[in-house]
Amino acid sequence: MKRSHLRIVICALAVAGAAIFAQQNPPSRGRDVTKLYTEKCASCHGAEMAGGSASSLMDGIWRYGGDDRSIANSIREGHLEAGMPAMEQDFDAAEIRGLVVYIRERAASFKADHTKFNAPAPGTIVHSEKASFKLDSVIETGLDTPWAIAFLPDGRQLVTERPGRLRIIEKGKLLPEPVRGIPAVYGGEGGLLDVALHPDYSRRGNDWIYLSYGDKSPGGLGMTAVIRGRLRDGALVDEQQIFKADDSLYRTGGQRFGSRLLFDGKGHLFFSVGDRACPGDEQDLTQPNGKIHRLNNDGSIPKDNPFANRPGAMPSIWTYGNRNAQGLTFSPVTGELWEAEHGPRGGDELNILHAGHNYGWPVITYGMNYDGTPITNHMKHDGMDQPVTYWVPSIATGPLTFYTGNRFPQWKNNLFLGSLATQELLRLVVEGEKVTHQEILVKGIGRVRGIFNGPDGYLYVVFNKPDRIERIIPADTN
Ligand code: HEC
Repeated sequence: MKRSHLRIVICALAVAGAAIFAQQNPPSRGRDVTKLYTEKCASCHGAEMAGGSASSLMDGIWRYGGDDRSIANSIREGHLEAGMPAMEQDFDAAEIRGLVVYIRERAASFKADHTKFNAPAPGTIVHSEKASFKLDSVIETGLDTPWAIAFLPDGRQLVTERPGRLRIIEKGKLLPEPVRGIPAVYGGEGGLLDVALHPDYSRRGNDWIYLSYGDKSPGGLGMTAVIRGRLRDGALVDEQQIFKADDSLYRTGGQRFGSRLLFDGKGHLFFSVGDRACPGDEQDLTQPNGKIHRLNNDGSIPKDNPFANRPGAMPSIWTYGNRNAQGLTFSPVTGELWEAEHGPRGGDELNILHAGHNYGWPVITYGMNYDGTPITNHMKHDGMDQPVTYWVPSIATGPLTFYTGNRFPQWKNNLFLGSLATQELLRLVVEGEKVTHQEILVKGIGRVRGIFNGPDGYLYVVFNKPDRIERIIPADTN
């Protein structure tokens, strides 16, 4: 069977989810909005949106309102007196939403071209809004697509490499030999992903190391899985499977596995399983993908999980309708679970996760497909949670961590978010359930793949391309 064909068969199993999806998404003509722009708008607004006979759509100056609704309205109803034709007949609602996303993208790239960002080399001092800092290289070479770090109580650090290796950093040096006994991985985005220590790791008998990874079924399909084991003489031993879906639920393709691991310190392990690019599965409680799960630390099901008693539902599910969550963190202030969800083009989200809630993907979203075709014009729906904030255009959200250290008191309890495509390390000020301010601390020196609070009170940042680990230290540190 051809791969593309197989994909349709596999994803179409999600009957219930697919039905909701179809119902909420009246068929769109689904045309690439970037091409539509060229055909229908460029003659007046310019090929680059920089303006022509009509005004620029990317300079941030709006005569008829710059919010999403006003822009959509300008396209739909026109401004005949000014020479803007009404174009309601030319597009469906989802396509108009796509045009808005595309206009936002062009405006953001225009702004980025005219803004100077901090792209510091290690050791150079960066003066940011609240703190002066510099990057201090932890490991500069020898890593291949590092993903996550865990800090062992003896001072060593464990680092996952996505191709499927667990490495050890000892006294600041990367040991050449990876840890033996690591499970084989699926490949692509489904490699070795997160690593986390049991919250009582130092207590005798509790020295469990948890790993999330893309697992491969005998039939060659993949799904996110979790194991734990103990580190003994350079090998992972006593391995126990903590989470593994039935092989029949595995999906084809190397995309969107998640996956963060997070302990709440009250006996539970939370982890994300990406949606595996199977639209509809996210809304289907019989499928593991497109969900956040919660288990007891030993892999058993907590009795008070929201779907533990619902016939047919996977009892480990905590929330659903989540596309590809690569960031999970607890607020040190409220204890709430925050999630960064890698969205479609123009639909990255920051969410607060509540037990049993539906986060809407792919029924509602602010984004469109990466090929420029629309998804939907539905951004809200009863029974589906709205994000705390979202990014149009996308920044390709990755890791998410509240800073809890003492080295930067000004940043305490701020939220740090990493992005892949735009290579940003962002600082978000959170008040209650709102983000009140965002600052780009560092941009353009690599894809930000992991952000961790070190036991030394510094933030550790894992970068890809080039692959390395840096920590952020105050500028006056020698
Ligand atoms: C025949 C020329 C023409 C075409 C084609 C056209 N526009 Fe316009 N558009 C205008 C004019 C003229 C205005 C009034 C603003 C100005 O230029 O001062 C305008 C205004 C707008 C505004 C409001 C701008 C503001 O400042 O509030 C938006 C948004 C917009 N156009 C989007 C589009 C999009 C998207 C398309 C293609 C789907 C499009 N236009 C096609 C001529 C055109």
